[in-house]
Amino acid sequence: MVHSPLLGLAWVLAATPLARADITTAINAKSNWGTWEGWGTSLAWWAKQFGHRDDLADAFFTLKSTTVNSQTLPGLGFNIVRYNAGASSWKAIGSERMVESKNIKRSRQIEGFWLDWNSADASSSSWDWSVDANQRAALQKAVARGANRTELFSNSPMWWMCKNHNPSGASDGSENIQSWNLEQHAVYMATVAQEFQTRFGIRFETVDPFNEPSANWWKADGTQEGCHIDVATQSTIVNHLSAHLSRRGLATVISASDESLYDQALATLRAIGSTALSNIARIHVHGYQYGSGNRAGLRDAARSAGKPLWQSEYGDGVGSGENLARYLLQDMRQLRPTAWVYWQVLDGGGWGLIDADNDANRLGVATQKYFVLAQFARHIRPGMRILDGGRDNVVAAYDASGAGKLVIVAVNWDAPQYINFDLSGFSQRPAEGVRVPRWRTHIGSGDRYAQFTSDTSISGSRFWSYFEKNTVQTFEVTGVKL
Ligand SMILES: *[C@@H]1O[C@H](CO)[C@@H](O)[C@H](O)[C@H]1NC(C)=O
Repeated sequence: MVHSPLLGLAWVLAATPLARADITTAINAKSNWGTWEGWGTSLAWWAKQFGHRDDLADAFFTLKSTTVNSQTLPGLGFNIVRYNAGASSWKAIGSERMVESKNIKRSRQIEGFWLDWNSADASSSSWDWSVDANQRAALQKAVARGANRTELFSNSPMWWMCKNHNPSGASDGSENIQSWNLEQHAVYMATVAQEFQTRFGIRFETVDPFNEPSANWWKADGTQEGCHIDVATQSTIVNHLSAHLSRRGLATVISASDESLYDQALATLRAIGSTALSNIARIHVHGYQYGSGNRAGLRDAARSAGKPLWQSEYGDGVGSGENLARYLLQDMRQLRPTAWVYWQVLDGGGWGLIDADNDANRLGVATQKYFVLAQFARHIRPGMRILDGGRDNVVAAYDASGAGKLVIVAVNWDAPQYINFDLSGFSQRPAEGVRVPRWRTHIGSGDRYAQFTSDTSISGSRFWSYFEKNTVQTFEVTGVKL
């Protein structure tokens, strides 16, 4: 029951701009957490099924508003695309055949190009450049739309390079590449890079020969392609790959090792050896340690090695977007990568940004997570300088071009409250009353990237906005100088 004095107070609160806010965060104009390189997705499974669709390419690789399955989506504007060189082939080699896990989904068996060990000559019958047409189509559509950070990666060596001929892993999760095929895996990756350039016009910027190589869950009865590779073996393969890339005159450089966990990536970085490290241009890590792990330790180790650091794969099964928001914020603030890549944009069980069943060829609707990511990816754009937003739930980026633009993305996990953004550290700010456009997505359900253009404005050296619980908002302040 609300009695009249409170009603009166509520009216006053709603009708008058508030001079005070519940919490205040100061954006640090002096900070510099790196120049943002972009956002992206890996292709692989979803692209094997849906890679031919222009609507999906528009939704993921442009900023245009796009209709997918009668749903209008704000394009995510990804500029990074990762292509998976497959490990599977059903062509027998004499009496030898690929051994398939009884649990692997057909959509996760990516056809590889090198069919047998008879010849390394890419124009011989040992190679088939017609396989994997849909995933290649997705790559080409992404590039045609402006994605110009391209990567080739591997989940497992070709089945015939594996000890048990099973590209899902060894029965006990131990190293599954045959010792005499370490160089052959490098030849495979370098040859795919070269042939994609000459045959398909794709110049891969980087090649990552591993996927979560230190993990012990790549097993013969697994649900996908995968291969445990010890750190010492990684080192040997990296050095072979470096030699084979340069022998072919390719500008492609190596990224590694795509370990699952921050702590594994740090251990691998420390153990891989100086020669291999000198052959690695960029450190890649996945986000599967979620709320734990030594993000700052990995960040510092990459920095002292003089290497850029990318979050090259993140995924979770929480369609509300809560986990994505939580761990993306932690990454931006503690790991401080210069790029962030989602794993499968189409998938089931909450894993996709758009719900889909790749095996049943069923495409559903966008999850709330799609719009949570849009709050970040559409606004923090390549070339911007990442700034310290001042609190764990705030990230900021600065675009020096034109009039100067400050982007702020903030999440409120707490009870409803105002968040006050203090811009007093900037040498130039917009004049009193200048509008600050904002976009809002409720984590869970509710608004999906709703835009508000006229209810928020500069007051002195600050502005503020009301946040409901579990809300992400993005603000763009134009006319700001560091
Ligand atoms: C990618 O394209 C953007 C926008 O055209 C451009 O600014 C950037 O330099 C390009 N990057 C690379 C690596 O080609």
